[in-house]
Amino acid sequence: MPLSGSDLLVTARAAGVGVGAFNVIQIEHAEALVAAAEQVELPVILQISENAARYHGALAPIALATREIAAAATIPVVLHLDHAMDEELVDEAITLGFTSVMFDGAHLPWAENVDRTAAVVRRAHDADVWVEAELGQVGGKDGAHAPGVLTKPNEAAAFVAATGIDALAVAVGSSHAMTERTATLNLERIAEIAAAVQVPLVLHGSSGVADVAIAAGVQAGLTKINVSTHLNKVFTAALRESLRDNESVVDPRKYFGAARAALTAETARLIRVIHG
Ligand code: G3H
Ligand code: ZN
Repeated sequence: MPLSGSDLLVTARAAGVGVGAFNVIQIEHAEALVAAAEQVELPVILQISENAARYHGALAPIALATREIAAAATIPVVLHLDHAMDEELVDEAITLGFTSVMFDGAHLPWAENVDRTAAVVRRAHDADVWVEAELGQVGGKDGAHAPGVLTKPNEAAAFVAATGIDALAVAVGSSHAMTERTATLNLERIAEIAAAVQVPLVLHGSSGVADVAIAAGVQAGLTKINVSTHLNKVFTAALRESLRDNESVVDPRKYFGAARAALTAETARLIRVIHG
């Protein structure tokens, strides 16, 4: 089916349910994430980060493979550019057929973040692509740990109004790249921000948030739940176990296949938890 647009998150917000957004690094990730969503018959967001594009040396190869896998899915799929700080990469993603992009200007001074985000929104909307942006840095990315930083509801409302964005990433207690699920979400703050803005809210760094806290966060007003590290842990553990159990293996399909199967199972479970 055709890739999904911004209506997917708008509908989810109105229904009070969450949508899982998971990072694609290799083609096996895209295959597993779509297979998982098809298993549970719920939508999914496949996201490719600027860092993943840099790892591959270019955005197009991994993006086009992911787009083909997404387009063949039997459930609604969004193809999203994650954490783009480079506007040229945003423009390339739009050309490649992404249905949404995140422009990450959270590190910029307020006025510059507003101006550059608003410019991205104008170009993206011309191409029918929706835009996520971030206000109040989510800690942990590239070592910048700032767990105490929370997005302020009044600033969130002003930022959404000034930029015209379609989804807002908020800092509400999570932190990127946590390998234990011990983060505490500020549910009161989530509810306050959700009451102050009309657009769906995005939780980054959700790997550090336990199932029950994710469900409570969705209840409080979160819609798009980004998980990467937790699933990479599952993928890597299965790959490691497969290699350990089969010391003579030389065919990568054996250990990548085991990792893909484990990723599919955990993603299916997580999609249900996030949906609520
Ligand atoms: O944008 C991606 C996410 O925020 C993933 O963060 O690796 O901590 O789950 P995570
Ligand atoms: Zn993130």
